[in-house]
Amino acid sequence: MDLEGKVSLVTGGSRGIGRACCGSLADGGSAIAVNYQRNKDAAAEVVAELKAKGGRARAFQADISDEAQTNIMIEQIMSEFGQVDVVVNNAGITRDRSFLKMTRDQWHSVLLVNLDGPFNVISALLPQMCDRKWGRIINISSIVAQMGNFGQANYAVAKGGMIAFTKSLAREVALKGVTVNAVAPGFIETDMTAAVPKESLDMVRKMTPMGRLGKPEEVGRAVRFLAAPEASFITGQVININGGLYM
Ligand SMILES: NC(=O)c1ccc[n+]([C@@H]2O[C@H](COP(=O)([O-])OP(=O)(O)OC[C@H]3O[C@@H](n4cnc5c(N)ncnc54)[C@H](OP(=O)(O)O)[C@@H]3O)[C@@H](O)[C@H]2O)c1
Repeated sequence: MDLEGKVSLVTGGSRGIGRACCGSLADGGSAIAVNYQRNKDAAAEVVAELKAKGGRARAFQADISDEAQTNIMIEQIMSEFGQVDVVVNNAGITRDRSFLKMTRDQWHSVLLVNLDGPFNVISALLPQMCDRKWGRIINISSIVAQMGNFGQANYAVAKGGMIAFTKSLAREVALKGVTVNAVAPGFIETDMTAAVPKESLDMVRKMTPMGRLGKPEEVGRAVRFLAAPEASFITGQVININGGLYM
């Protein structure tokens, strides 16, 4: 159990990729703080599932784009678990629209959750990681940061910003025992892609060398690897998990 004794916070851990990350990190022996925004039942289900497998887990509600809510959540997590060793910045939203029609609100709301959210979480947790000279920050970016996508200028900016943030922060904290990496999933079967029109997903399958969408667990396993001691010399990197869609 390579993560025995560690505590992991997964933002947006109630569904999709975040849920798979909770599962894979718990399989490694980590205790899990499952963050969610609205979906209390889904978060409770994840916690029950992890506990049924013998793990330690608790759900924590907070809109991570809100600094005050995030700080309260971090206080609750610290009082429950005493430390956070691994942070997976996974919570994210899309507000797709071609740029000519995109409203300022659609632009800002995506940046607020996908970029300010990780800022709020990392600012609150980084000092204790640096003090204890061990930490893993894993940011869930996207293939869209690398390729761009029609109707997703706001999302591409946020996910591209996340990669730039990953590389800069990795340089700042490398000597403090904290690694910072990103994963860039391609198209993965979750509620987020369920909202994409079928014809578009068929086109993605056709363009993907592996001929299919990815599964949340395929991202979760890479996240567990980045969190594990085996990844101790990996920092500032972007791991692509996309079936070959972008090389
Ligand atoms: N699916 C893909 O193909 C794909 C590809 C590349 C990257 N990604 C990225 O991977 C991450 C997860 O995607 P997904 O497909 O698993 O998404 P999803 O199924 O839509 O789940 C999103 C999760 O984020 C949480 N969330 C949303 N806004 C939040 C906020 N303000 N504060 C706290 N939690 C919030 C949701 O909580 P509730 O359950 O409470 O609503 C939910 O747990 C996102 O960052 C996404 O951009 C996804």
